[in-house]
Amino acid sequence: MNILILGSGGREHAFAYQIAKSPNCNQLYTAPGNAGTAQLSENVAIGVNDFKKIKEFVIEKQIELVIVGPEDPLVNGIVDFFDSDSELNKVMIIGPSMEGAKLEGSKEFAKEFMKEFNIPTATYQSFTKNEIIKGLQYIESTPPPYVLKADGLAAGKGVVILDNANDAKAELQHMLVEEKFGAASKTVVIEQFLKGIELSVFVLTDGKNYKILPTAKDYKRIGEGDTGLNTGGMGAISPVPFADEIFMQKIEEKIVKPTITGIQKRKMNYKGFVFIGLIKVDDEPYVIEYNVRMGDPETEVVLPRIKSDLVSLLWATSTQSLNRALLEIDQQSSATVMLVSGGYPEGYEKGKEIKGIDTTEGSIIFHAGTNEKEGKILTNGGRVIAVTTLNENWKEALEKSYQNAEKINFEGKYFRKDIGFDLQSN
Ligand code: AMP
Ligand code: GLY
Repeated sequence: MNILILGSGGREHAFAYQIAKSPNCNQLYTAPGNAGTAQLSENVAIGVNDFKKIKEFVIEKQIELVIVGPEDPLVNGIVDFFDSDSELNKVMIIGPSMEGAKLEGSKEFAKEFMKEFNIPTATYQSFTKNEIIKGLQYIESTPPPYVLKADGLAAGKGVVILDNANDAKAELQHMLVEEKFGAASKTVVIEQFLKGIELSVFVLTDGKNYKILPTAKDYKRIGEGDTGLNTGGMGAISPVPFADEIFMQKIEEKIVKPTITGIQKRKMNYKGFVFIGLIKVDDEPYVIEYNVRMGDPETEVVLPRIKSDLVSLLWATSTQSLNRALLEIDQQSSATVMLVSGGYPEGYEKGKEIKGIDTTEGSIIFHAGTNEKEGKILTNGGRVIAVTTLNENWKEALEKSYQNAEKINFEGKYFRKDIGFDLQSN
């Protein structure tokens, strides 16, 4: 079948890498893609939120399967757009409806969902501008630290953690009154601080059945030792060494099953990925957030470990037959290291020539923010390249990724040298 991937990051290159291998894939397109996806598919200059152009392209190229990489088009209703269009409603599209996408698009919606279906998460209260007095009193009456979350999408920046009540109160004012995150902070969720170690679990669901994909641990901060500003993610490891069988059973029983039940009971029309951000507190899993797509760079470690044909799995997702699909996982570990532009996640320059990719060996080089001009591969984003390696041992996988990270060069290149630092004893 002809397949279209929407997006332009490392996640989308990893999808293209798996899908291009499939005997079930005929023509593969990526919109808008990057220099990496261009090697495996045909890049198409269409933005992920340009539904009208996407429709024309899908009809023209007789696309049968669309994979939506980022959350934006999902929150904007691309799945509903396809389902309600007589020319598109036979096309399989991976991702939830707009209602399902609220699990990521609204923190308050996600918290209410978890409450209704008894899914363990931090206790919380939410406040709007009119309720600011109550919000300030709530901060006064609870012990630090304070976790303040803008309700809507804020490009990964909407969570602020503060150690004292005065700072928390000032931040609440910024968010609600000064609309620090625009419409996204019209409502603010204040929740209990959970102390523990984080991990992510990925689930593929057809709205009724599910498959649990490999776990991953992401390193979000720019600086070593998890310091400094938040980024999209600086590296990842899969599986998570401390997520043993007993812990995974708890996750499945207490979190995955009730989440799928909730999706079904709320009739969300959800055929896609659920990315569950978790924190392990004293051997118990708590949900920190839902995302309604795969993670980046988590996809770059999760998908290379899937041995089964990804197109067949996505077809089963779309036809609600995941219960009959086969999911075979590579028992090797994988690690990825993200090479980023100097200055990221703040201001950075683009258009720097990337050299040395062809000198690497033993790793998979996923392009994140790159493009090609006059035969040269140039940087085109904050996160530039993800270097992924598979090995029996995650430390050796990481070592190889680091060797290859040294061989790829562009002006201003930076990467964290301590991915996995908190897992050394595992
Ligand atoms: P989010 O954008 O929801 O992923 O939150 C960003 C980061 O804030 C998470 O990756 C956690 O490190 C942290 N975080 C969010 N909620 C909590 C919480 N209730 N307790 C402790 N840390 C949290
Ligand atoms: N790496 C985190 C995310 O994709 O949201």
